[in-house]
Amino acid sequence: MIFTVAIDGPAAAGKGTISRAVAAHFGFAHLDTGLLYRAVAARGGDPVAAAQALSPEDLARPGLRSLEAGAAASRVAAIPAVRAALARFQRRFARAEGGAVLDGRDIGTVICPEAEVKLYVTATPEVRARRRWLELGGDEAQVLAEVMARDARDMGRATSPLRKATDAEVIDTSDLSAEAAVARAIGIVRDSLAKSRIA
Ligand code: CDP
Repeated sequence: MIFTVAIDGPAAAGKGTISRAVAAHFGFAHLDTGLLYRAVAARGGDPVAAAQALSPEDLARPGLRSLEAGAAASRVAAIPAVRAALARFQRRFARAEGGAVLDGRDIGTVICPEAEVKLYVTATPEVRARRRWLELGGDEAQVLAEVMARDARDMGRATSPLRKATDAEVIDTSDLSAEAAVARAIGIVRDSLAKSRIA
C-alpha cells in the first residue's frame, strides 16, 4: 500500500509529536524533513555540496535541535539548489511501499501534492515559543523573536514557501493537549484510510 501523510506547519506547532504518534499508530515510516535542512547547515561549507553529500551520520550529529541550528537551517532552506538536492529522497520516502508520514514546510504543496492526507498544524506564535522555551530553555522573549523571525523567513522565501495546501486540514494546537491533537490527526488518517480501502 502506498499512502502518504503530509504534515506541514510553522516552527514548534506540534508537527513532530503528531507525526511520530501517527506513524507509530499505523505502522508507517516517519521522516522529519526539518532534520535534513538542520544537518545541511550543520555540515558547514557550501550548502549545496552538503545537501548533495548528506549521509545518515549527518542526521545523528549532536546539537541539531538547538535554536541556532533551526535558524541556520531556515537560511540554507531558502536556497533552491539545496531544496532540489533533497527533494528526490523525500519523494521516494513518501511513495515507498508501506505508508509514510513526512513533516516539514512544503510536503503537501511541493514534495508530495498527491498525498492521501494533508495536515496543516499550527498554533499562535506565543504558544509555540513557550513550547520551544520549555524544551530548550534560555530567554523566553528571545525564543519568541527567533520563532517569529524563522516563520517570516520560511513564509516569505521565493522557493517552496511555507503555506497551507488548499486541500489540507488545519489542526490548531493552541488550545489542544498533545493527546487531543494526536487523536484528531489519527481520526483524520483513519477516515481517509477507510475511504481508500472502499474505493
Ligand atoms: O521543529 P521545527 O518546526 O522548529 O523546525 P524543523 O521542522 O526542524 O525545520 C527547521 C527549518 O528547516 C525550518 O525553519 C525551515 O526553514 C526548514 N525546512 C524547510 O524549509 N522545509 C522542510 N520541509 C522542513 C524544514
